[in-house]
Amino acid sequence: MNKAVAISPGKVILFGEHFVVIGSKALAMAIDLYARAEIKESSWPSEIISKETGIKGKITKDLKILGPKEIEPIARLLSVIRSWGYNLPGFKAIISSDIPISSGLGSSAAIASAFSVAYMKIIGHELDKKNLVTLSNEAEKVTHGNPSGVDSAAVVYGGISLYRKGEGVISNINELPRNDYSFIIADTGVKRKTYLPVNDVISLSKRFRSILSLMLDAEDRVIELAYESLKKGDYETLGQLMNINQGLLNSLGVSSREIEEIVYEGRMAGAVGAKLTGAGRGGAVIVLCRSDTENEIINRLSSLSSWVKKIKIPPYGTHLV
Ligand code: PMV
Repeated sequence: MNKAVAISPGKVILFGEHFVVIGSKALAMAIDLYARAEIKESSWPSEIISKETGIKGKITKDLKILGPKEIEPIARLLSVIRSWGYNLPGFKAIISSDIPISSGLGSSAAIASAFSVAYMKIIGHELDKKNLVTLSNEAEKVTHGNPSGVDSAAVVYGGISLYRKGEGVISNINELPRNDYSFIIADTGVKRKTYLPVNDVISLSKRFRSILSLMLDAEDRVIELAYESLKKGDYETLGQLMNINQGLLNSLGVSSREIEEIVYEGRMAGAVGAKLTGAGRGGAVIVLCRSDTENEIINRLSSLSSWVKKIKIPPYGTHLV
């Protein structure tokens, strides 16, 4: 029987969340938490089972959903693949993931891209990265409204991606120049929907157009310098730029008391940079520190967070296993 398995890393946004929706670049990084899609060819209606959430549903051959709305993104993927001229085989898909949901860590993009890669393998066709980002982002539209595409790009490419909406991945770094610094994620444990803060920032940008335009220029400059620092291995500068970026995000109204407490505790424990990652108002904080301070930081953040983890940066994005 025709069978395929694909995995995809999650992601954090190092710089540029929200600003990327209204025109700036973003710098996003894959993380070593994974979503996995196991697909076997089968008859219609197709069956989807999500291991962690217990969600189960079916999709008919004419792409009607029999089950919860959480499987809508999969129906959207199938509909786009059909619109590209492929015949759709029926299937049974088992989805599993260790990426926390609604925390800004790319869980929905990782599931969409892992499903897409495995399903296209069943069809007998491999998509290039650009088309895979486009396809996965269609599922993200169901989940988030009008996403910039940065989440899909980050998980599909792996490593660290410099991205702009409409342009795609401008450049990708697969290897970091030094390993005496560490990235740590601390999750506030506050779940939120991406589209709510995104809509608020869009309203703010319309109300204070001239101020937002200056902030957008500032963010673009922060990202240019961050990208140079990253390539040079100048992580002290990178950390300072993360702190500047957190200030700009706070000005947009997407930080929160829980985020700021983690950010400040991390900095007081010796972090060189700390900022929210993703849509904000909850979700996760990304912390950059010298490796010799990492244990102290992890200890101190544990009491303020639902979980804390040192992350590695996988060089590969979504792929078959
Ligand atoms: O879904 P999240 O929390 O990873 O946020 C995505 C990043 C935003 O810039 C806030 C939205 C977008 O579409 O780029």
